[in-house]
Amino acid sequence: MNVLRTKSIEQSLEDTDDPEYQLKKQLTALDLTVFGIGVVIGAGIFTLTGRVARDYAGPGVVFSFALAAICCGLAALCYAEFASTVPVAGSAYTFSYATLGELVAWIIGWDLILELMLGASVVAQGWSTYLVTFLDEIGITWPASIGPTSSPDFQWDHVNVAAVLLVAMLTMLIAIGIKESLRVNLFLVALKLFIVLFVIIAGLFYVSGANYDPFIPPAADPIHASGLTQPLIQWMFGLEPQTFGVLGIISAASVVFFAYIGFDVVATTAEEARNPQKDLPKGILGSLAICTLLYMAVALVITGMVPYDKIDPDAALATAFTSVGKDGFATMIAAGAVAGLTTVVMTLLIGAVRVLFAMSRDGLLPKALAHTNPKTGTPVRITITIGVLVAVIAGYTPIGKLEEMVNIGTLTAFLLVSLAIPVLRRTRPDLDRPFRVPLSPVVPILAALICFYLMLNLSIETWLRFLVWMVLGFAIYFAYGHRHSRVRTETKEGADA
Ligand code: ALA
Repeated sequence: MNVLRTKSIEQSLEDTDDPEYQLKKQLTALDLTVFGIGVVIGAGIFTLTGRVARDYAGPGVVFSFALAAICCGLAALCYAEFASTVPVAGSAYTFSYATLGELVAWIIGWDLILELMLGASVVAQGWSTYLVTFLDEIGITWPASIGPTSSPDFQWDHVNVAAVLLVAMLTMLIAIGIKESLRVNLFLVALKLFIVLFVIIAGLFYVSGANYDPFIPPAADPIHASGLTQPLIQWMFGLEPQTFGVLGIISAASVVFFAYIGFDVVATTAEEARNPQKDLPKGILGSLAICTLLYMAVALVITGMVPYDKIDPDAALATAFTSVGKDGFATMIAAGAVAGLTTVVMTLLIGAVRVLFAMSRDGLLPKALAHTNPKTGTPVRITITIGVLVAVIAGYTPIGKLEEMVNIGTLTAFLLVSLAIPVLRRTRPDLDRPFRVPLSPVVPILAALICFYLMLNLSIETWLRFLVWMVLGFAIYFAYGHRHSRVRTETKEGADA
């Protein structure tokens, strides 16, 4: 059984010329950067900043954002090299098919689906919370029975209709065509950037130096987590998670990591880029750099406006302005968050469609799924399948249950992509690499180690759920994908001829 067979890079590029499965090439470097910003800035900055500043790091949360950015930056360099070398839809999945073999590629593809689909569900839920808050502020009440619920348990008779409607609307938009959706995206991203810049600039006038004292609050008692909720690292080495102090800043970094998720999605649109070799690295690194600066500035302003122990854990950006008597600003920021989170959900959905598209085109999942509609140029069947799944997950799962799953899926993909860089340099030194990671293999190995460290900080419960997801993936691969793989069937036909 050959699970290590690779799909040559030339073959991957050739497959993209097959008109039946072709995507239109029309995105520029600017489109890609906007796309990146559209997916990265979202629930992370609008909600997590407040929570982690209050519970883990105080004003020192700005260092947590910097640390998480370093981890993502190293991984982004690896993604940029791969995307410029193998500009084919499917991102990390395709890269690894060319280097580490079919089974690893399947695992990464399966992880990416987890990241993107659950990420879209989480942010759709966050969107519904902001929508209800915003409507409330302008005097409209969304019925609680069909809105987000704070109950931590599954309730099969309660559906978050707001989140379901959002996903349904975006699925339709994506099915119509990527350029059309990017136009909507452009408008919403511009609005979101305006709101974030507004928070930074308007907020500066209300910053009080006293709130920065102490900048790094002294370490508090360790958090006594036990059982399945304790981080894996605690169970393995007895290291208890700490709040505040330097260790608190590190714990906060593994949480705010979520805020950066998404820059890798830029790589999933590789086939739709006009000049992928140059524009993909620009899109990936550019969007990450812009988001890092904005995040650090927002973190500084918010912790400067409100004493860290008084920050609102749910809607810090809006309520910081209410606390200084600017209610109108708060309403505007809540509206901006609704717009901002919309683009995140849309881009995550597009990413999930692209990965599933690449996997089906390779025969690892039923190939019929990958047909592109001749009119729209988009894979309509996959788009609808993903839309339905995400709507169901967002509608039924209690809020706050899925974030860590998103992080573990993403970190696994980052880790494998980073390790694949030195492998591909060795196995295919001949390839044209318009963008190269500096100091390989040091940088890729460092990236992999940091990702692994952050993974160890996730709870045992998350690891167990992740294992279940992986077992399901293996079952599908060995029952279906392995036998129907295009690489296998075409090699066999070649041998028979
Ligand atoms: N980075 C994205 C967000 O913060 C997933 O919402």
